[in-house]
Amino acid sequence: MKKGIWEDFDGYDSINEEIKASHITASKRAFELDFADQYIKRLHPDRLALKIADIIQETPTTKTFRLVSEDNELPPFQAGQYLSLLIEVQGIRTSRPYSISSQPNQIGYYDITVKQVKNGLVSTFLLNHVNIGDSLTVSGPQGNFYFNPLVHDENMICIAGGSGITPFMSMIREIVDRGLPRTLTLFYGNRYADDIIFHEQLTHISDHFERFRYIPVIEKASQDYQGQCGLITADLIKEVAGASEKATFFLCGPQGMYDFCLPQIEHLGIPRKKIRKELYGPPLDICKDPGWPKEIERDRLFSVSVKNGQTISAPAASPLLVSLEKGGVVPPSICRSGECSMCRVKILSGKVFQPADTPVRKSDSQYGYVHSCVSYPLEDLEILL
Ligand code: FES
Repeated sequence: MKKGIWEDFDGYDSINEEIKASHITASKRAFELDFADQYIKRLHPDRLALKIADIIQETPTTKTFRLVSEDNELPPFQAGQYLSLLIEVQGIRTSRPYSISSQPNQIGYYDITVKQVKNGLVSTFLLNHVNIGDSLTVSGPQGNFYFNPLVHDENMICIAGGSGITPFMSMIREIVDRGLPRTLTLFYGNRYADDIIFHEQLTHISDHFERFRYIPVIEKASQDYQGQCGLITADLIKEVAGASEKATFFLCGPQGMYDFCLPQIEHLGIPRKKIRKELYGPPLDICKDPGWPKEIERDRLFSVSVKNGQTISAPAASPLLVSLEKGGVVPPSICRSGECSMCRVKILSGKVFQPADTPVRKSDSQYGYVHSCVSYPLEDLEILL
């Protein structure tokens, strides 16, 4: 082959060696980055295709769905985190967050425990039309409601209401399985005794594990009910758990439970920073929010036009995200409680109502973005997805 003109220059050979070496390093680095990228995606996948391996009837209105991976790999999670189920029901594409009720020290399966919600689109579908062997699409594990040993006290006082027991079930199972040095007192409120989920398991664990105390509290108990009746009050917490200054409180349940229990806990002198509250969806009835403008009737319809897209109609008392999904416009969503920012839309014109404690970033509100899962139209809107 003919010799190149450069080959006669001083230092040609050493420069050539350096170029070759840098090519090898660059391709090795690209391989390493690719490997790291794949590893991160395995730990934090956007989507998982899971199969229902088992269905366990927990109460007349609650079932646990055991989900396994089609390729035997499930990402790890923290006890207390949730999966967002992505599903189409009656032609509506939507999502629902469900806390994982199984323990994280095994990742052969995830359990999600679903309770019938009155007129609930997704819970009705799951409880009545989903069978073993069916496939479901979920997000990777999400959420911040978990024990952090750097911040939280080893003495945990947990208050659950209804299906809000699910993240605690994961925490309790992990503590027992791994023998973690934590003390957990669980107050579990339900309207009726038949509503209690996991009652036998919780009773069994509390009988055999001295660092776990279980206090079911029934609001409307029958006359022959032997256990604790009424609501979870400051007096009850003090009587069972004693001095709670060196405890961290964890709460998960419906809005009514927060409205009642938070002042009770504060009455015990517990500072707000020692109270962790899990998100539990949008407010049950936004028209009862103290800031709701009384002149806007709940059924009043507004039009919402999506820039360069379609126009849908949206009732005042329904979260904007729900109206968009019903109209066939599907912004991404995970938490449906105002936390993850996935469902952000920009309001180009018109006004929405957002509850006072909605966690919106300063930059979002500055540029007109809202979380559509906890925003309600008060006027006709134009939005940008
Ligand atoms: S879905 Fe998470 S903020 Fe709306």
